[in-house]
Amino acid sequence: NQRQLILAFESSCDETSVAVIENGHKILSNIIATQIKSHQRFGGVVPEVASRHHVEAVLHCTDLALSEAQVTYADLTAVAVTYGPGLVGSLLIGISAAKAIAYAHQLPLIPVNHLAGHIYAAQLVKPLRYPFMALVVSGGHTELVLVPKPDEYHLLGETRDDAAGEAYDKIGRILGINYPAGKAVDQLAHQGHDTFNFPRAMLDEDNYDFSFSGLKSAFINRVHHGDQIGEELNRADLAASFQASVSDVLVGKTLRALVAYPVQQLIIAGGVAANQGLHEKMTVELASKFPEIDLIVPPLRLCGDNAAMIGAAAQIKLDNHDEFADLSLNAAPGLDL
Ligand code: KG4
Ligand code: ZN
Repeated sequence: NQRQLILAFESSCDETSVAVIENGHKILSNIIATQIKSHQRFGGVVPEVASRHHVEAVLHCTDLALSEAQVTYADLTAVAVTYGPGLVGSLLIGISAAKAIAYAHQLPLIPVNHLAGHIYAAQLVKPLRYPFMALVVSGGHTELVLVPKPDEYHLLGETRDDAAGEAYDKIGRILGINYPAGKAVDQLAHQGHDTFNFPRAMLDEDNYDFSFSGLKSAFINRVHHGDQIGEELNRADLAASFQASVSDVLVGKTLRALVAYPVQQLIIAGGVAANQGLHEKMTVELASKFPEIDLIVPPLRLCGDNAAMIGAAAQIKLDNHDEFADLSLNAAPGLDL
């Protein structure tokens, strides 16, 4: 049993992250430099600002990742990097760093899809059994994916408009909560009740797609209406009602897919996987309808953007003997799974 070490880079959005992963599942280091503070006053990620921060952080993160893992470049098996989807200027920083290191140390360069990374974060928790189902929910994505075998993805459905996390961030702003608002809305929701009965978009439609922009509008309209007539709305109830609507749809669609595609494991991945309301509802529904299915929700640090998940996904490609990238590797901002 040979020890394989992958140095992985992630810089698709507002986190610069470098990790060292052993044999695809053991995290030797996972350094994450977040830029959230620099973007907060703008209410969202400013691409130009993000690129500059990545440039400043990436080499320092690399040094830290290697020293914390107690390895040197000579110990590495391969270098992996997120090449899409994401912000092009941000992606290019991680790609440039990974290329330079791969070139200088004669290491294979493994290009990784950011969404595959979110899914394979689960590999850092426990061994995966195929086929499995993955619900990827983040600030940029809402996708229901069947994974029949290693690194093969069948996209069953996706959002037709806003991503789940994006909807959280937008209604959070209405509630006066800083970007990214998901966690605070989640906490607020636990102090309230679903009294507003917002729409559950597309829940009864016979597909696996999602839509959150109607919910966002209903939320905004309700708040504005309240303002107009001088009605004091309960913020916790607003948050709880919004959260109930989002999780009803996410859980409802996932359960529908589980009926059509039997699996033993369900993974919830991406930043919104950290959502307690979603986690609780999914746990309850699985226990009553699919007690045999194992729910895997990676810990908080592995749900958000990080390089450890990129290393985990890269090891799958290494095991599959996939082709490596050469130094012409470019960013693919709109990359699909
Ligand atoms: O995966 P991620 O770190 O970055 C993207 O690739 O988008 O996800 C960030 C998103 C943000 O929209 C944030 O508000 C949301 O995940 N988020 C949450 C929670 N924690 C983070 N949304 C709902 N509940 C949470 N507890
Ligand atoms: Zn992400």
